[in-house]
Amino acid sequence: MPLNDCRIIELPRINDPRGNLTFIEGENHIPFDIKRVYYLYDVPGGSDRGAHAHKELHQFVIAMSGSFDIVLDDGDRQRRFHLNRSYYGLYICPMMWRTLDNFSSGAVCTVLASRPYEESDYIRDHGEFLSLAKKKK
Ligand code: TYD
Repeated sequence: MPLNDCRIIELPRINDPRGNLTFIEGENHIPFDIKRVYYLYDVPGGSDRGAHAHKELHQFVIAMSGSFDIVLDDGDRQRRFHLNRSYYGLYICPMMWRTLDNFSSGAVCTVLASRPYEESDYIRDHGEFLSLAKKKK
C-alpha cells in the first residue's frame, strides 16, 4: 500500500469542563477491526523503537501522553509524523518500515492493531523489506 494511505486521523472529541473524552470504534473511526491493544511507556530519553515492518498488520498509533515521532518508509519515500495529542493518531498500513524516536519524558504510545501478536508477520531485516517492497510495486 502506498505511503499516502498512511495518514493522521482525527478522532471524535466530547469537550467537557469536567474533562474531555475521545472514543474509537474499529471499522468506523479507523479502517480496521481492533484485535489487540498494546502500549509503550517508561521509554528512556534517546531511545528508538520499531525498526521493522509488518506484512499484513494494520495499526493506529496514538500519543496518549507526551509526544514522539514516527518515521514511515515504503522502501522508496520517507515521511516523519509528530504525535503529541490524544485526540488524533497515525494510521499505518501494512508494508511500512517504521521507526519511533524523539520520545518526550512520560510519553505513552498506544497502538491499536488489526491482528493478534504474530512474530511471523514481522519483517525485521531492512534488506528483506526493501526487496519485498520492490516486488509489490
Ligand atoms: P516489538 O514489536 O519488536 O517492539 P517495538 O516495535 O515497539 O520496538 O516488540 C518487542 C517485544 O515484545 C518482542 O519480543 C515481541 C514482544 N511483543 C509481544 O509479545 N506481544 C505484542 O503484542 C508486541 C507488540 C510485542
